[in-house]
Amino acid sequence: MTETSANEPSPWRSLWNLPDDVAYLNHGSFGPSPIVVQKSYEYWTRQLEQQPMNFFLREMEPALEKSLAVLANFVGTSRGNLVFVDNATFGMNIVAASTRLETDDEVLVNDHEYGAVTRLWRRTCQKAGARLVTCELPAAELHTESVFESIFTRVTSHTKLIVVSHVTSPTAMVMPVEKICRRAKELGIPVCIDGPHAVAMLPLNLRELDCDFYTASCHKWLSAPFGSGFLYVAPRQQKRIQPAVISWGGSISGRQPGWKDEFNWLGTRNPAAFLATADAIRFLLSTASPENCTQLENTQSTKPHTMLDELQQRSRQLTQLATNELRHTIEAKPIIHDRSLRNDSMVSFVLPAELFPTQSFKGKAGHRHPLQDWLWQHHRIEIPLVAWGSQLLIRASAHLYNSPEEYSRLAAAVRDFTHEV
Ligand SMILES: Cc1ncc(COP(=O)(O)O)c(C=O)c1O
Repeated sequence: MTETSANEPSPWRSLWNLPDDVAYLNHGSFGPSPIVVQKSYEYWTRQLEQQPMNFFLREMEPALEKSLAVLANFVGTSRGNLVFVDNATFGMNIVAASTRLETDDEVLVNDHEYGAVTRLWRRTCQKAGARLVTCELPAAELHTESVFESIFTRVTSHTKLIVVSHVTSPTAMVMPVEKICRRAKELGIPVCIDGPHAVAMLPLNLRELDCDFYTASCHKWLSAPFGSGFLYVAPRQQKRIQPAVISWGGSISGRQPGWKDEFNWLGTRNPAAFLATADAIRFLLSTASPENCTQLENTQSTKPHTMLDELQQRSRQLTQLATNELRHTIEAKPIIHDRSLRNDSMVSFVLPAELFPTQSFKGKAGHRHPLQDWLWQHHRIEIPLVAWGSQLLIRASAHLYNSPEEYSRLAAAVRDFTHEV
């Protein structure tokens, strides 16, 4: 076991094919998969290309179910409740297509939700003459109780659905989804959880969570290829689930009909990313070579230390280090203070307002803050910046391939930017 040492590259970095000079600190938006997972993706693409008839008619559906079984085991449900979708956006669109809204119905979101998700629900509500209600979470005193209370004070007799992130995108906050689901269930309101960051970042047991819908992208912390995601639909909702894209709606191999038939064959497409998802999970659950491991806090543990354990351990050390570096170098502070709302993999920092005014930066898609481009062009650092009300946030991720040096480089580069511009 080694201490995470300051200037050395991560001992895990060679499992990815990231360029040596790039500090990749945006696993939260686009997480590169390890080489072993890329190989699995290539294997499945070859299977398809070699003999497409055999692949689509005979191999694909059983192989999808096998991969789903591994995923289902990982997220604590049965494979009968899961379908693969291209990404969380796709899954959320299926939920929107399945939600029957009438005039005066309400869909409840909050102001930490992902922009595209809010946009989808605004459109869905507008089409039906329903209302999108956006709950503003408190800016100060943000903790489990205040988040929970803020959401439920906006619930009315018209609320037809609560949409909530498991881990929010701009602020990297862990929402109290267990508590939200329990209360919503007592009130008879379905809950749809937008969960792309949570899978493999946090323990997830869908059976215990008992939400109605859970959408996720597997290309984030689960380390599966791009183009892989899943939608969980609770058994009580499976009868009313509708596809967002209409195709044949049946099994191509002639299986018994079921609710998933609308989702497996969405026209001809390459399902290699779905099939490689099982190998991403196998990678995370494999035993980590001890000589590369970050020093364990509890060295008494007799449980094998998996790559997932190592990911969580290393990320915790690195996000703490990032917090210290950014605080001391440029007085940037994490936006989330409460321990129970924080995670160990991704932290959003508020950049000092006097140095980083946001008047001309709205952070819309395709509009980048000059600091983001400057960090890339001058320091080979990839990291997202987000406009959050009047504040500018910088969100740093930590993964197995990251090293301490990258966070000191980040802090020094942000400080230099304020001197340059
Ligand atoms: C909270 C949240 N929801 C949804 C999405 C959309 O994910 P995707 O682009 O993979 O569909 C993201 C992307 O970062 C996100 O952070």
